[in-house]
Amino acid sequence: MPSAATILIVGASRGLGAAMAAGFLGRGWNVIGTVRAGSCTVLHELAEKHPGRVEIETLDIDAPDQIATLRQRLAGKVLEILFVNAGTTTHDQHARIGDVATEEFVRVMVTNALGPMRVIEALQDLVPADGLIGAMSSGQGSIANNETGMREVYRGSKAALNMFMRSFAAREAAHPRAMLVLAPGWIRTDLGGPDAPFTIEESVPLLVDLLIAKRGVPGLQYLDRFGQVVPW
Ligand SMILES: NC(=O)c1ccc[n+]([C@@H]2O[C@H](COP(=O)([O-])OP(=O)(O)OC[C@H]3O[C@@H](n4cnc5c(N)ncnc54)[C@H](OP(=O)(O)O)[C@@H]3O)[C@@H](O)[C@H]2O)c1
Repeated sequence: MPSAATILIVGASRGLGAAMAAGFLGRGWNVIGTVRAGSCTVLHELAEKHPGRVEIETLDIDAPDQIATLRQRLAGKVLEILFVNAGTTTHDQHARIGDVATEEFVRVMVTNALGPMRVIEALQDLVPADGLIGAMSSGQGSIANNETGMREVYRGSKAALNMFMRSFAAREAAHPRAMLVLAPGWIRTDLGGPDAPFTIEESVPLLVDLLIAKRGVPGLQYLDRFGQVVPW
C-alpha cells in the first residue's frame, strides 16, 4: 500500500486550521500541525484520536528563529501540501487606516503577510513538483472587491499576502507548482466572530477537497471555497 500523503498545516491549534487537520485525517492523510504553545489544543485531541498520524510542532510565525528550527526538524520529510493557515485580525474593525497605531499595523502585517511568506520560503523545498503550497488569505484581501472599507489593516495585510505570493510564484515560474491563496468565506470562529454567516462544519470540508483537487495543478490561483476565482 502506498504511504499516506502528508500536509503541514501551520496554525492548527483551533478554528479553521484544526478543522482542516481533522478533514485531512478523515481523507486518509497524515498531518503535521503547528501550535504556538500549550498541550491541550484541538490538534492535541486529534493526535490522541489518530495515533501515529499527527505530529505536533511548535511555531510562532512571527519568530524567524523558530521557523529556522522547524525547517531543521522537518529535514528529510516530503510535504505533499504546505499550508499556512495562521492569521490574526485587527483589534478595532472600524479604525480608519490613518488612525491605526504603528504597533498594531506592524503586528497584523507581520503575522498575516511577512510570517506566512517566511514560512513558505523556508519550507518550500520540502514540497515536491506535484505538491501544493498555499496560504489562507481572505476575500477581504481582494483590492478589486473592496467597496466598503472597514477592517483596513486586516484587508491590507491579506492583500499584501496575495502580492507576496504572486512574487513568489513569479520567481518560481521556471518550476511551477500548484499554489493557492484561499478566501474561505466569513466563518464563525474566534476570529470570524459570532455574527459570521457560515459554520466551520459547512465550510472546511470544501476547503479540504479544494486543496486536494488542486494538488499538482501548476500556477497560483486566488480562489474561494467553491473553487471560484476571486479577483485580485
Ligand atoms: N473565520 C473567518 O471568517 C475567516 C475569513 C477569512 C479568512 N480567515 C483566515 O483564516 C485563518 C484562520 O482563521 P480562524 O478563523 O480559524 O481564526 P482563529 O480561530 O482565531 O485561529 C487562528 C489560528 O492562527 C494561529 N496563529 C495566530 N497568530 C499566530 C502566530 N503568530 N504564529 C502561529 N500561529 C498563529 C492561532 O494559534 P493560537 O491558538 O496559538 O492563537 C490559531 O491556530 C486566518 O488566516 C484568517 O485570517 C478567516
